[in-house]
Amino acid sequence: MAKKTIIVTGGAGFIGSNFVYYMLNKYPDYRIVCVDCLTYAGNLSTLKKALENDNFRFSKTNICDREEITKLFKEENPDIVINFAAESHVDRSIKDPDLFVKTNVSGTQVLMDVCRELNIPRYHQVSTDEVYGDLPLDRPDLFFTEKTPIHASSPYSASKAGADLLVLAYCRTFKFPATISRCSNNYGPYHFPEKLIPLMIINALNDKPLPVYGDGKNVRDWLYVEDHCRAIDLIIHNGKIGEVYNVGGHNEMSNIDIVKLICEKLGKPESLITYVEDRKGHDRRYAIDPTKIHDELGWLPETKFKDGIEKTIDWYLNNKEWWEEIISGDYQNYYEKMYGDK
Ligand code: NAD
Ligand code: DAU
Repeated sequence: MAKKTIIVTGGAGFIGSNFVYYMLNKYPDYRIVCVDCLTYAGNLSTLKKALENDNFRFSKTNICDREEITKLFKEENPDIVINFAAESHVDRSIKDPDLFVKTNVSGTQVLMDVCRELNIPRYHQVSTDEVYGDLPLDRPDLFFTEKTPIHASSPYSASKAGADLLVLAYCRTFKFPATISRCSNNYGPYHFPEKLIPLMIINALNDKPLPVYGDGKNVRDWLYVEDHCRAIDLIIHNGKIGEVYNVGGHNEMSNIDIVKLICEKLGKPESLITYVEDRKGHDRRYAIDPTKIHDELGWLPETKFKDGIEKTIDWYLNNKEWWEEIISGDYQNYYEKMYGDK
């Protein structure tokens, strides 16, 4: 494989950091440059091992900052830009939609404009199945395909849908060389503890209540994060420009079943489960049809949920320091510690 420079935005977050490690490991000749402004969801200590690798660079930069992004992209002259950076939590978007529009829509636009200006040959937008809205629980025969109309429910998903539409418009109007992936719910190491699976693991370990929204019957289609990374790797190398690829592993589970499974695996009582007020506009069911990425690029998920959830629980048991620093807030000092005197 010819040597490449890849810019990964949002690489200090959950999926981006897993992708950084996946790429450094799989392509030891590639240069991986992480661009992340370290919001509350970005954790530089996650990239501790990557920072020891000479083929890795970290830049604390906001994707909305056109001047800084232009300067960095000129310096690095990347072959590919992959945009993971986003405000990603639905509940936060309900409380404060403003930042979601700025980062997810305007940030995407800045990245694409700079790529166009500098003739960067390839751009990939990491999107989500949430742009399709939701499916009813009583129609298990229905799935999201790439042709399903966009029908977002939350400010988060609307901002991701807005970005997708902008990417597709740039492809058509400017022949912008982009691809989009729309993946279902990921789980695995380095997942920020405000999201369902890590929150439930950590609360259960601390014998705290496990807050289940509404009736707990909402369904998500869970995919181990490494399978998502492999899908993006295939798309950036072999995917067709202008195309959208859905990514999901046919692994639908209700929230309450996930929470009960976590209790069982950790030997904690189900009496910790507490039903709380439902999320506003709560999507009922997500389910991806991954036929296109399978047929065109040969992608199939490799990690079964029963193995992935065990690996994930073990990871949280063996990496208490990582999540305890998040809970205490100490992780936000890591950048200062690493770069304070530089
Ligand atoms: P995350 O919240 O864990 O990480 C987001 C990262 O982006 C953080 O490191 C944050 O510091 C960074 N960031 C935010 N705003 C930025 C800005 N303006 N400039 C530079 N960096 C910024 O998110 P995640 O769960 O890893 O999701 C990554 C991407 O994948 C997102 O685009 C999300 O929409 C998409 N996605 C997530 C899932 C999932 O299950 N988590 C599923 C499908 C798609
Ligand atoms: O489908 C992909 C999306 O998955 C991504 O685009 C988002 O960035 C990512 O955050 C995720 O969104 P969800 O809203 O599905 O994930 P979350 O972990 O927030 O919630 C999963 C389900 O669990 C959802 O039905 C709400 C419910 N929930 C969540 C939390 C945090 C609870 O019942 N209790 C909770 O405390």
